[in-house]
Amino acid sequence: MSNEMSAMVDEVTGNRRLRRNRRFDWTRRLVQESRLTVDDLILPIFIIEGENSEEAIKAMPGVSRYTLDKALDVAKRAAVLGIPAIAPFPNVPLDKRNVSGSEIANPDNLICTFTRMVKETVPQIGVITDAALDPFTDHGHDGILRNGIIVNDESVEMIVQGALRQAESGADIIAPSDMMDGRIGAIRQALDQAGFNDVGILSYTAKYASAFYGPYREAIGTDGLLQGDKKTYYIDPANTEDAMREAELDIQEGADMLMVKPALPYLDIVWRMKDTFGMPVFAYQVSGEYSMIESAAAQGYIDGEKVMMESLLAFKRAGADGILTYFALRVAEMLNKH
Ligand code: PBG
Repeated sequence: MSNEMSAMVDEVTGNRRLRRNRRFDWTRRLVQESRLTVDDLILPIFIIEGENSEEAIKAMPGVSRYTLDKALDVAKRAAVLGIPAIAPFPNVPLDKRNVSGSEIANPDNLICTFTRMVKETVPQIGVITDAALDPFTDHGHDGILRNGIIVNDESVEMIVQGALRQAESGADIIAPSDMMDGRIGAIRQALDQAGFNDVGILSYTAKYASAFYGPYREAIGTDGLLQGDKKTYYIDPANTEDAMREAELDIQEGADMLMVKPALPYLDIVWRMKDTFGMPVFAYQVSGEYSMIESAAAQGYIDGEKVMMESLLAFKRAGADGILTYFALRVAEMLNKH
């Protein structure tokens, strides 16, 4: 057929047939734009004191808190599966929590001890530690609470102490999730002064004041403690520009990577950050996102595995480089099978 002829035919039948590329599994695979791989995953692990035990978290079916020996086994499993990094979150005994969260500065606290264990035994897996104070305060806030106010600069000083202890324990990346002003610059300066020039900072830049964190608070035991809410320091879910300004500052202050949290309800933020700054951007699929999928799947309302894969792929499509997800082990197992 001549070009003129085919143009005519196309005019009659319509030449815009997008379904051709969707016809077979193999064409779909050839034209697939976004892909989820094991390299995209970061596994959060909940840790507790004690030995050889594991506690189920009611609001997060399938997720447990582990004593450090058991958590180390989980880290080993993650490494074998090829998961690049883990993020430990501690459930600290109540008698170690106080108004200022000073336990974060104890070099033998749960996070630091676990970090040393992982770095000794499974050095190939990255350890990303959080320097927010909430697991360590008796009021559940990420900073120091005085007269009803989360005091910024004093909190930053404590957060910096925590970050230093974590770096000394071998943490590869410090990921402060507290949203105090100026903490990225302060952590960077302190790390550099202490010779930890190579320790990175993943800033929880766009951390929203979200109700999706509910199950996490049971996991680390802040649910019964939290006084009020976190609206005076986390970002209002209505706002985008605030997140963009936060990102600008964090980058100026020395952040190596940015985080958006929660993930699925904030895909527009993931996209815009990636598009604007071109920095590594991570999405945190938070506890509430996880539990919604798991509970609906348990009821038989959705196919949990498919919804899990689809939501993770959505983060990649939006431009996320990596994903913190409680599904990480399960997903890695699935991806490794193919
Ligand atoms: C606080 C912190 C939160 C999460 C991790 N660190 C939020 C909060 O408790 O307010 C949430 C993680 C999740 O929901 O999975 N620094």
